[in-house]
Amino acid sequence: MNLKEMAGFAAAEEIKDGQIIGLGTGSTTHYFIEQVGVRIKEEGISVMGIPTSYQSFLLAKESNIPVTTLEEHDVDIAVDGADEIDPDFNLIKGGGAAHTLEKIVDYSANELIIIADDSKIVDVLGKFPVPLEIISEATKPVFSELKDMGADPQIRMAKFKDGPVISDNGNFIIDASFGQIDNPIQLEKDLNSIPGVVENGIFAQMVDKVILGTNDGVKVLKS
Ligand code: A5P
Repeated sequence: MNLKEMAGFAAAEEIKDGQIIGLGTGSTTHYFIEQVGVRIKEEGISVMGIPTSYQSFLLAKESNIPVTTLEEHDVDIAVDGADEIDPDFNLIKGGGAAHTLEKIVDYSANELIIIADDSKIVDVLGKFPVPLEIISEATKPVFSELKDMGADPQIRMAKFKDGPVISDNGNFIIDASFGQIDNPIQLEKDLNSIPGVVENGIFAQMVDKVILGTNDGVKVLKS
């Protein structure tokens, strides 16, 4: 079992019968979602998922997890991945361009568990650029604001499509390198106050628990 798989499996064990689960996006939550499907099949637990992307929606369907929406249900527990995790459990997310819906679902959850391999733990956020979902028409003014804030913004380009990545919501994704982020709480607010920014990938002060896959086994860190 690889480290992401270990974390995903351990998180699936935390799920209780009857819960509404926020289903995060990415390669680590992939293992979590599949394992929730296994528990439904083998143990008969009755749960529903609220996906955070087309990826997690499709995987939930494949895994026979019934899906619902924020309109219909409150989220008991959300399980999501991360690109960086600092000692205060502030995160950078959005490596898969899904951070807008992830933040909405994760924020509304009663409990948020982050699953990752231990390479995601950092002393200070900022090696990984901060993803921003933006309205395409706002690209030039948003770039100018980000440069004034000391960042080096880039439009994320697609790998198997010509041109930019288009998010599940039909928007551009910008990756903005700030270097070391000393105050993620403030930066998250500042970025969202730029007109045209739909959401940024800093998730400050939201996490209840981190489940890490490490070479010494699963480690659980609580905030
Ligand atoms: C999706 O946009 C991201 O927020 C992912 O949750 C994050 O990039 C972690 O992905 P992995 O589990 O693939 O490392």
